[in-house]
Amino acid sequence: MSEKKRIIATSALPYANGSIHIGHLVEYLQTDYWVRFQKMRGHDALYVCADDTHGTPIMIRARKEGITPEELIANSQKEHLEDFEKFQIEFDSYHSTHSPENEKMSHRVFQAMEAGGHIEVKSVEQSYCEHDKMFLPDRFVIGTCPSCGADGQYGDSCDKCGATYAPTDLKDPKCSICSSPPIKKASEHLFFKLNDFKEFLREWVPAHTQNEVANKLKEWLDDELRDWDISRDAPYFGFEIPGHPGKYFYVWVDAPIGYLSSTQKWCEQNNLDFDDVWNDEATEIYHFIGKDIVYFHTLFWPAMLKATGLKTPNRVFVHGFLTVNGEKMSKSKGTFIAARQFEQYLDPTHLRYYFACKLNGIGDIDLSFDDFSNRVNSDLIGKITNLGSRGAQMINKKFDGKTTQMTPEGKELVAWVQSRSEVIAELYQGLNFAKAMVEVREIADKANQYFDEKAPWKLIKEDPETTQAILTDILTVFTLMSLYLKPVLPVYAEQVEALFDYPSLEWSDVTLERIEGQLFNTTLQPFKHLSQRVDVKKVEELVEASKA
Ligand code: 2FM
Ligand code: ZN
Repeated sequence: MSEKKRIIATSALPYANGSIHIGHLVEYLQTDYWVRFQKMRGHDALYVCADDTHGTPIMIRARKEGITPEELIANSQKEHLEDFEKFQIEFDSYHSTHSPENEKMSHRVFQAMEAGGHIEVKSVEQSYCEHDKMFLPDRFVIGTCPSCGADGQYGDSCDKCGATYAPTDLKDPKCSICSSPPIKKASEHLFFKLNDFKEFLREWVPAHTQNEVANKLKEWLDDELRDWDISRDAPYFGFEIPGHPGKYFYVWVDAPIGYLSSTQKWCEQNNLDFDDVWNDEATEIYHFIGKDIVYFHTLFWPAMLKATGLKTPNRVFVHGFLTVNGEKMSKSKGTFIAARQFEQYLDPTHLRYYFACKLNGIGDIDLSFDDFSNRVNSDLIGKITNLGSRGAQMINKKFDGKTTQMTPEGKELVAWVQSRSEVIAELYQGLNFAKAMVEVREIADKANQYFDEKAPWKLIKEDPETTQAILTDILTVFTLMSLYLKPVLPVYAEQVEALFDYPSLEWSDVTLERIEGQLFNTTLQPFKHLSQRVDVKKVEELVEASKA
């Protein structure tokens, strides 16, 4: 294995005004698999995230609910953390963008951009509601589409015909909060001169993103890059910009800075200096994001870091969206499913397994419920879990839980399973979880074949000694499979560890050296059920409940 590395991996920060749904989980889960894999390989890997707490929607929602934004974001953070825990997503640092650390860090980044001459002040004309005394973001102006005439469209684009426009182009515009017509009003805004970083970005983007992403961005990078409006006027739930009273950082400024401040918090808790850690040549930084927020993460963000003298990410991993049964998630079809609702009906371990089977890069992934039940029932339960449980239960029943040594043939099988270790590791490393799961299934197929050929349930009558050794072979293969699955199924693997009283399977345990004392000539701990079949009725109930 390579040297121990320091790795910082992030997922996009979830907004504090919504629940985690299964679409979000595609990202949190793949980051979690990847970081857990890095840890198993012995690296100092950190999974860093935070709640994204600022902006107009959060301010308005709190007002509607009759609570303060601070209360709203505290409730939301609590809910998010509970959901992540249920899905076995383990952060090393989960902070909030509404934190003193993030405020200080935002000041630092802004002051560096300003000192570098990258900030310009310009006057902007926007929709303003005289009743609510606030400027209205695009989504808070509703009116008639100037292109197709559809009613009730947002200020940025039409849901009916897909046209995009400025809110000032909408016909018959109304404030979405109070319904009065907005006026046009000018105010001064601060802009980040992104074009100052054009040459840097032209080199940086292709070297740090997938080809598909780099090709897309090339269109932009060939042109002049537009200045980015980074300020908003009061009232705004966010941080005031230092030296510019009444102006607040646009939420998308302090959101990615949350990656820094959440890492900083971890550093403080571990008595390390943030700059030493983040800016260390050897530290590797990775962002996992969806394809909708590429622009923020591959243009603005590296430019902001560069301006601040902070290390830019080693790579931005972009993934696709989730469809359910081949279609966009939909509330009316019951396929817009909140994480907590899923967990009430189905086992999060199964979703972890299923998403891993589907994830292999940048494309969209589909959760088809039939496929989900089939794959979990036939592979995870039928092939993998049953192998372990049949082996362990027979050892318990017939041999008082005692294992012995492997047979010569079993050793050969195990040697082959061991030989897959670096192939599987490379697949994890390259985010090809789907292929890693194929590898594990192939192992399961071979092991099941071996089990059926040897038919220990028959052999026991004539040769109990060999039978016990064959069962030991099977349990050894099963342990190695659990090791390979551990980044995806950590709780499942923990139960397997408990079976032979082993503290924690690491990737290097593939050699069996450290675990053989606990695997061979030993007594197993009582066997607990690892995972149950998917009950198709529960899937139907979940869909019904999600329609409500
Ligand atoms: O798109 C979103 O859900 C944003 N809350 C993601 C922020 S990611 C990062 F930049 F903070
Ligand atoms: Zn209004």
